[in-house]
Amino acid sequence: MKKAALDKGQFGPWALITGASSGIGKEFARQIAASKINVVLAARREDLLKEAGVEFSKRYGVEHRVVVLDVSREDFIGQLASATDDLDIGLVVSNAGTGNPGEFLKHDQQLHRTTLRISTVANLDITHHFGAKLAKRRRGGIVLVGAMGAEAGVPRMANDGAAKAYIHSLGEALHYEFKPLGVYVTVLAAGFTNTAVLDKFGLDPKTMPMKPMSVEQCVSETLSGLRKNRSKVIPGRLNRILNALVPASLARKIEADLIDKGLASKSASARSLVVA
Ligand SMILES: NC(=O)c1ccc[n+]([C@@H]2O[C@H](COP(=O)([O-])OP(=O)(O)OC[C@H]3O[C@@H](n4cnc5c(N)ncnc54)[C@H](OP(=O)(O)O)[C@@H]3O)[C@@H](O)[C@H]2O)c1
Repeated sequence: MKKAALDKGQFGPWALITGASSGIGKEFARQIAASKINVVLAARREDLLKEAGVEFSKRYGVEHRVVVLDVSREDFIGQLASATDDLDIGLVVSNAGTGNPGEFLKHDQQLHRTTLRISTVANLDITHHFGAKLAKRRRGGIVLVGAMGAEAGVPRMANDGAAKAYIHSLGEALHYEFKPLGVYVTVLAAGFTNTAVLDKFGLDPKTMPMKPMSVEQCVSETLSGLRKNRSKVIPGRLNRILNALVPASLARKIEADLIDKGLASKSASARSLVVA
């Protein structure tokens, strides 16, 4: 079935996607480019961004710009602002991030702080800077990428979950505030999605009890929600049912068990590699 294109008048002529070098962010960039909206691709790995940009320009006939940046840095928003000030950006997807599974006390405090900056300060800076620009043109959209269940607490990802809960709260509030300004805001509360992140969890999509979602479905459901100006999208019917029906205490146990199992099998295979 052919997907509905994004309205270029509302969301074009340019879109900015952070974390566009792989996974969900790269797929956002692809689907947005398929709507004939030019794309700014931002992340740290320049080679991957360039490769994706060339591919999308060739496939969809759009322009692209690559911005190499680390959103955990104090000064990143100044760098991003000057790299995009000459462009009429109508859509911003704040997606950069990762997951750091493991026991809270075993992670380095510096890693916790960096994760917190990426989810909180970076999203604050992005929504404030680009929100003002979109409000001035009185049309546009913002997608903030969170994680399903973040508000309930995620054991073995305690800091990651807490930081993502900030994104959910910020996005849902801005959805309300920006609506009269003509700016749509949608939070993506993603469940397990098939990207490079799963490897960090020791999870193999083929053996997971519930198959992770494809990036295509995750992104197309989110863009469909954005078109209707939904405040939050949980992609996948089963995810929505689980989110609505499973009590938070049980969801925390299921998540902790799944992560523990994945990490145990990852360290077992690392040990067998060392022995071999
Ligand atoms: N996959 C899932 O199951 C899942 C579930 C819930 C939420 N999410 C969220 O979805 C988002 C995308 O993750 P993914 O699954 O697509 O993982 P991924 O394939 O590893 O992509 C992560 C993207 O974020 C970028 N990034 C990470 N840290 C960055 C930094 N400090 N500065 C700039 N860019 C940075 C990475 O680019 P560089 O390395 O090139 O910088 C990459 O493009 C993340 O926010 C993640 O928390 C994913």
